[in-house]
Amino acid sequence: MCGIIGYVGKQAAGPIVLEGLQRLNYRGYDSSGLAVLDHDGALAVMKRAGKLAELEASLTTPPAGRTGIGHTRWATHGAVSDGNAHPHLSSDGAAIVVHNGIVENYRALRERLAAAGVECRSETDSEVIPQLIGLYLREGHDFDEAFRRVLGEIEGGNAVVAMERRRPERLYAARLGNAGGIVLGVGGDEMFVASDVPALLPHTTLVQPLANGQWARIGAAETTIRDLDGAEVALAPQRVSMDPVAVAKGPYTHFMQKEIMEQPRALSDCIRGRAHVNPAGVSLEDVRLSDDQLRSLRRVLIVGMGTSMHAGMVGRYYMESLAGLPTDCDNASEFRYRAPLLGPETLVVAVTQSGETVDTLGAMAQVRDHWGAPRVAITNVEESEATRLAAGSAIYLRCGPEIGVASTKTFMASMAALYVLACRIGAARGHLRGATLERAIDALLTAPGIVDRTLAQAEICREVGRVCQDVEHMLYLGRGLQYPLAMEGALKCKEISYIHAEGYPAGEMKHGPIALIDRSMPVVALAPRDPLYDKMWSNIQQVQARDATVIAVGTEGDAELEAAADVFIPIPACDPLIAPFATAIPAQLIAYYLATARGADVDQPRHLAKTVTVE
Ligand code: F6R
Repeated sequence: MCGIIGYVGKQAAGPIVLEGLQRLNYRGYDSSGLAVLDHDGALAVMKRAGKLAELEASLTTPPAGRTGIGHTRWATHGAVSDGNAHPHLSSDGAAIVVHNGIVENYRALRERLAAAGVECRSETDSEVIPQLIGLYLREGHDFDEAFRRVLGEIEGGNAVVAMERRRPERLYAARLGNAGGIVLGVGGDEMFVASDVPALLPHTTLVQPLANGQWARIGAAETTIRDLDGAEVALAPQRVSMDPVAVAKGPYTHFMQKEIMEQPRALSDCIRGRAHVNPAGVSLEDVRLSDDQLRSLRRVLIVGMGTSMHAGMVGRYYMESLAGLPTDCDNASEFRYRAPLLGPETLVVAVTQSGETVDTLGAMAQVRDHWGAPRVAITNVEESEATRLAAGSAIYLRCGPEIGVASTKTFMASMAALYVLACRIGAARGHLRGATLERAIDALLTAPGIVDRTLAQAEICREVGRVCQDVEHMLYLGRGLQYPLAMEGALKCKEISYIHAEGYPAGEMKHGPIALIDRSMPVVALAPRDPLYDKMWSNIQQVQARDATVIAVGTEGDAELEAAADVFIPIPACDPLIAPFATAIPAQLIAYYLATARGADVDQPRHLAKTVTVE
């Protein structure tokens, strides 16, 4: 979850590291720090609790030196304080380390260090890493060996970047498990390392992620990558296509706002070349499953977390109706610790925009190692660990970087990717053919336009945000395909506006939550014209009978609903399968405007991080 950046080369490292931290600020932002090494071994370390601006304010002159590392923290062990911020150093300052993940055996390692006379100065698990490296250096090992030994001793998912005080011309980096990525960036005569690609983009698009269990000694002139057994791995960087301009906020106040507004384009990009009408069909070259394999499927299981899981819940409907297969959607952190029965006839689809969410990766590894079931990753990050765990069978979302911590455009694109995958499976199995396939594809191709038209309702959503900004609770209701959207609307509301919200299947409301409803509880009812509309209508009557303020999202021209509701937000008439793309817009915008009306920090909500790499 923490952000990591490192540089070695001929330029001044300080400004590059600082600028990288600005780009990584969305990952963790409770404290930050950097260390810069000069060629004569002079070391400058600065770290501050609070937003990155605190660190920037403390840097009156950028530290000198051509090698540097930096870190934005999302606290796991130890309070948010200057002392717990990274980098951490060995007691003698010989090893300087930034870390992402959790050293699960840190207590035992601290005891070992204490027995050797080394006292840790911070409350973090991370500090054991430089302290152990320092211990091995003092025992006479060189840095390569000390680093490698420590990698073998720390348990859990960990990503580490280190500098050696005595050898300022190089950096070390390692990825162990699924605590988040480490990506090497190759420049002319300089090298970069970061926890994810956007931090590298202003400098290079030539990147190589370290695979699980790899570590690297990184020099401007020479970089060596090895696995933990010492076998050398080739440095073979690939070009990534992410556009640095896409990372800028442009005319928008927040990245989330920008990303909501660019959803029509994100959707078109995701669908382009994959769904076509003439001849009707789908092309998914990156999904390396043959028609025979798809025909042999008996079941689909979709896993993900948070917003990605909500996209998966929508995907469940698509799989059932378009692919004709029994489908479940599960929370990856629950699934991975159960003993589900899977086999080669179950397709496991992991939805993870970052491709690095620890629980989703854990679930995929579980599937690979224990059941050998076929896997597909739906992700926004090429070359992510999720892609590797899916043995290269991936659908890339093509959204460009998503910087807002609250996912929006990747949610849309994930639903579209699941739709396309369902069509691909349905066509291979003969469940969709001829006119039905054509209709399904046609419907999807309307989605970007429908989203675009729904964005025109932003003003009504702003008004809802203004009027409801002081409420304490919100309820979101939906049925069928709109139930996951109710969950998603409530999640967005909670995470960025800090208003407590619940998303419920509307039919379930009577079994408990209805007791909470009164005048002070706005209810967002997602009620487009679909086969469950009449049932939803009854549920709206039931909440109205208890005095709730009803904010209804319905199909334009639905005069009856418009008259009944306190607020009516119209979406274009569309195929019910496509309606989630439209209702997602008010779900996102209401949360956005609630948050802005309350003065909340939309792009950096408290306690959250963009990529969740710890359990
Ligand atoms: C909410 C949000 C999170 C993520 C979840 C999974 O707005 O962004 O709930 O959806 O952390 O992340 P990925 O998709 O990267 O696996």
